[in-house]
Amino acid sequence: MSPTNAVKYHTRTEEAHQLIAPAGYTQPEYFEQELDQLFSQFWLYAGMTDDIPQPGDYLTVQAGRYPLAVVRGNDGELRCFHNICRHRGTQFLEGCGHSPKGLSCPYHKWFYELSGELQAIPRENELFPGADKTALGLMPGSIGVFRGMIFVHPDPAPREDWQAFVADLELKAGPHHPNQMVEVGRSRHLFTANWKLVAENYMDAYHLFYLHEKSAATFDHECFEWDTAGRHFLFYEPVVAKYKDWADKVYGDKHHGVVPGTDPEQYGGTFHMLFPTIGWVGMAHSWSTFHILPQSVDSTIVESRVRVMPEAEDAMKDSRRYKDRFNSGEAELVTLADCSTHPTQSDNLMFEDMWACQQMQKAMNSPAYQVGAMARTFESTMTFYQRNVLDFVTYT
Ligand code: FES
Ligand SMILES: [Fe+2]
Repeated sequence: MSPTNAVKYHTRTEEAHQLIAPAGYTQPEYFEQELDQLFSQFWLYAGMTDDIPQPGDYLTVQAGRYPLAVVRGNDGELRCFHNICRHRGTQFLEGCGHSPKGLSCPYHKWFYELSGELQAIPRENELFPGADKTALGLMPGSIGVFRGMIFVHPDPAPREDWQAFVADLELKAGPHHPNQMVEVGRSRHLFTANWKLVAENYMDAYHLFYLHEKSAATFDHECFEWDTAGRHFLFYEPVVAKYKDWADKVYGDKHHGVVPGTDPEQYGGTFHMLFPTIGWVGMAHSWSTFHILPQSVDSTIVESRVRVMPEAEDAMKDSRRYKDRFNSGEAELVTLADCSTHPTQSDNLMFEDMWACQQMQKAMNSPAYQVGAMARTFESTMTFYQRNVLDFVTYT
C-alpha cells in the first residue's frame, strides 16, 4: 500500500547492522565528541516560528558547544546569532522573551539592535575611545525554516548548507502545515538512556508488533514502508480499519478536522526523524513532534508538542491516547516512576519505550553486551541512522 498524504516512499528492504560500538552509548568522552563533532557542526531544531511571532521576540538554543539565539527583527525576519555579548562574552539572553526595542546585556549594558548591530556602549567616548561598533555586532549563525520549524547552525556558512538539509524533504514531508494548526498539548519525558537509543527506538519498526502490541495497535505494521530524504529518515504505516472506524466516530464527519491535503478516505501516519534529533508524526488529524534533547551520555529528554486542525481540538483532547501522553502539562518531567504498573503492562507507548531504552542502556555497561542480530527491513532504519552519525563522530 502506498502512503496517503500524497507522499511517495521508496520502500527499503536492506539488511541491518549495528555500526556503533557500545562504548559510543556509555562513555562520557564519546558524548563529548558528539557535542564537538555533530551537535556543534550540524543543523539543529530550535522551535516553531509561531513561538516568536512579534518583532523583538527571541528564543535561545544550545547547539553542541554553541549557545545561540533566534531573534525576530523589526522587518519580521528571523535571524540566528551567537548568544554571546561582544563585550566580555556573557551568554546574555535566557530562555524565551520579548524585547522590542533591542537586546541588552545586563552585565555592562551593551545594547544591540534586533538585527544584531551594536547600537550603544555605556560611556563609550570616555572608556572605549575609537571603538569600532560596526565590528562588534552579534556574531551571526545560520537559520532555515521548514514548515514553520526553525533550524539553526552555528556556522554562518555551513559545510552542508540549508538547501542540502531540506533537499527531497518537501516531496516526502506530507501536507501538514503546523502553523495552520492549533497546539493542544505538550509533554516532557525523561529517558535514562543515551540519545541514540531513543532515536533508534523511534525508527525500530520491529518492536511495534511486540512492545507496543496494544499501544500502537492503531497502525498496520505489516504495511510499514521506509525511505530517506538526504540524512533524514521517514516511514509510513496505514491505520487499521478499527482505528479508522473509531476516528470517523470521534471526529464525526470524516472531513471534519482532517489536515488539508490528506486523503480522508485513507488515514495513515508518516513518521519523520530529521537528522539528528527532531522527529514528527503526521496523521490525518494531527501533527506532533518528538524532539530528542541529549542531556548526558545516559540521559535524554524527549519534548513533544501536538497540534490539530482547529475543528478537531475538542475531539483530540477527549481521546485517551492524548490524555496518556499530553495531560501532564508542559512543566512536568515525566519519569518511569510515574508509571503505576510495570511499564510493559502500561499500554502507554512512552512508558514502554522509556523502559526498553533504559533496559538496553543498563545492559550496554556489561562487558558481555552484544547485538546478536538485527531484522532486515524493520531494523535497517537504524543502520541508516548510525551511518549518518558516523559521518560526523569518530568515536576514537
Ligand atoms: S559582557 Fe555584556 S556588556 Fe559586558
Ligand atoms: Fe516505541
